[in-house]
Amino acid sequence: MKILWFLTCLFTLSLAQNDPINTRRFPKNLRIGVANAAPQIEGAWNVDGKGETIWDHFAHTYPERIADRSTPDIACRSYEKYKEDVAMVKAMGLYHYRLSIAWSRILPTGYVDNVNQLGVQYYKNLFKELRDNGIVPMVTLYHWDLPQPLQDQMGGWINETIVDIFADYAKLCFELFGDDVKWWITINEPKQVCQSGYGSLYFPPAIEASGTLAYVCSKNVLLAHAKAYHIYDELFREKNQGQIAMVIDATWYEPGSDDPLDIAAAERAQQFDIGIYGNPLFNGDWPQIVKDRVAERSKLEGLSESRLPTLTAFEIDYIKGTSDYLGLNHYSTQLINHTAEFPIGKPSFENDKNVIYWHRDDWTQGSADWFWDVPWGLRKFLVWLKNNYNNPEIVITENGFSDTSGTLEDDNRITYLEGHVSACLDAIYYDNVNLTGYTVWSILDDWEWGGGYTSFLGMYKVDFNDPERPRIKRKSADYFTDVVKRRCLVEESQCVDQ
Ligand SMILES: *[C@@H]1O[C@H](CO)[C@@H](O)[C@H](O)[C@H]1NC(C)=O
Ligand SMILES: *[C@@H]1O[C@H](CO)[C@@H](O)[C@H](O)[C@H]1NC(C)=O
Ligand SMILES: *[C@@H]1O[C@H](CO)[C@@H](O)[C@H](O)[C@H]1NC(C)=O
Repeated sequence: MKILWFLTCLFTLSLAQNDPINTRRFPKNLRIGVANAAPQIEGAWNVDGKGETIWDHFAHTYPERIADRSTPDIACRSYEKYKEDVAMVKAMGLYHYRLSIAWSRILPTGYVDNVNQLGVQYYKNLFKELRDNGIVPMVTLYHWDLPQPLQDQMGGWINETIVDIFADYAKLCFELFGDDVKWWITINEPKQVCQSGYGSLYFPPAIEASGTLAYVCSKNVLLAHAKAYHIYDELFREKNQGQIAMVIDATWYEPGSDDPLDIAAAERAQQFDIGIYGNPLFNGDWPQIVKDRVAERSKLEGLSESRLPTLTAFEIDYIKGTSDYLGLNHYSTQLINHTAEFPIGKPSFENDKNVIYWHRDDWTQGSADWFWDVPWGLRKFLVWLKNNYNNPEIVITENGFSDTSGTLEDDNRITYLEGHVSACLDAIYYDNVNLTGYTVWSILDDWEWGGGYTSFLGMYKVDFNDPERPRIKRKSADYFTDVVKRRCLVEESQCVDQ
């Protein structure tokens, strides 16, 4: 009993304690920036020829599925105020501005036979503004905002012809903007596109087909990404000398105890969340555990084949190696327990995964019941990625703290950023993780999808009650500006060089 009690204490402590703040100077090759996305900040949803997206349509059709019944129609008005945004990025001394192109702003129908020149001009102006200010754009082609006609006419991501349609759009963007953009991201957070979009009524296209069409979507997203990559590789890389990658989102799943069953459950959860995308990109094919479990449960459901579509040898080869770096969006850590096999019934991604989530009571919570400030989780995650994907170059493309108060005295956000950047430095200096970029989400408050304007992540507040949408600096903006300037988390006198 005594020994058990002691071990429990040790285990609890190791989970509860954060590592000390890293005092090393940032490595020279670590590029720092901020990130956001067109549908969350631009507004001007139907201005100058922009077409409707699945998020416009969703917010207009199902207001009750958005926390505050809001829409992205106006958002931060960045379509008009982009110069103000760029000036803020410049004032913070940042290297990167990660942004996304709204597909429907340049191709209102989704197809390349109908180019909206005003939309093209907007992005040209934005890239020129960045160039004039010495800021390097990192550009996402698809940040969830499918042109609505593609959903209506052909079913969006579950129809394999999306692979060619997306690749045409990507190619057009490389042609139009390739001289300005050296850092391309094809698709942001495929897990949300597929497992949420085809698994939940609260995320468009709001088709409940978890465990079935959602996996078909995963395959098409991977092929669409790979096709865009090959086009860039064959036609643009030599001329434009850029990088192209997919951005994967994932929570770190820490085993809930040192019981081998909990350890296996956490690993399984990792493979279902990040592995469905990371494994095909970096190792080839779906993760074995995902193939095995979906096949097994499909059989028990009486199906003649697995709900997980097969990747052919050609497709495996076509997808493998198509991410120049690993883009990671990471916000939180959760604890994972083993649980008995969920009953066979309606197919579902979560049942295929088969784990229980929990958290420690002493973790600081963000705006959601999965959002916890756990910096050591990020460090462990980076080491996991290094070990599982053959030490890739990694760029953290999103990380930041979400609160519901919107306070200007955002000490929780400062603590979060300090802890997470420190975890990055630990991973770089002590674990030899090849982490070369870090972009904070976000510089501005924005329209947080189903959360509407009820959760806030900006280092600048946006007053959404004021038609002018003024930007108001938070304490974290000054904090982060100082950190970026010093390239160190601690005061200059305590900062350790080399
Ligand atoms: C897939 O898209 C094509 C056009 O791109 C369409 O002809 C076909 O009907 C679609 N398939 C389904 C199942 O919707
Ligand atoms: C997970 O397991 C741990 C210890 O094995 C237990 O203390 C905890 O209550 C479990 N959590 C849940 C949500 O089942
Ligand atoms: C990190 O990745 C970059 C880009 O691929 C590469 O040039 C560099 O050599 C890598 N660094 C290490 C330490 O592996």
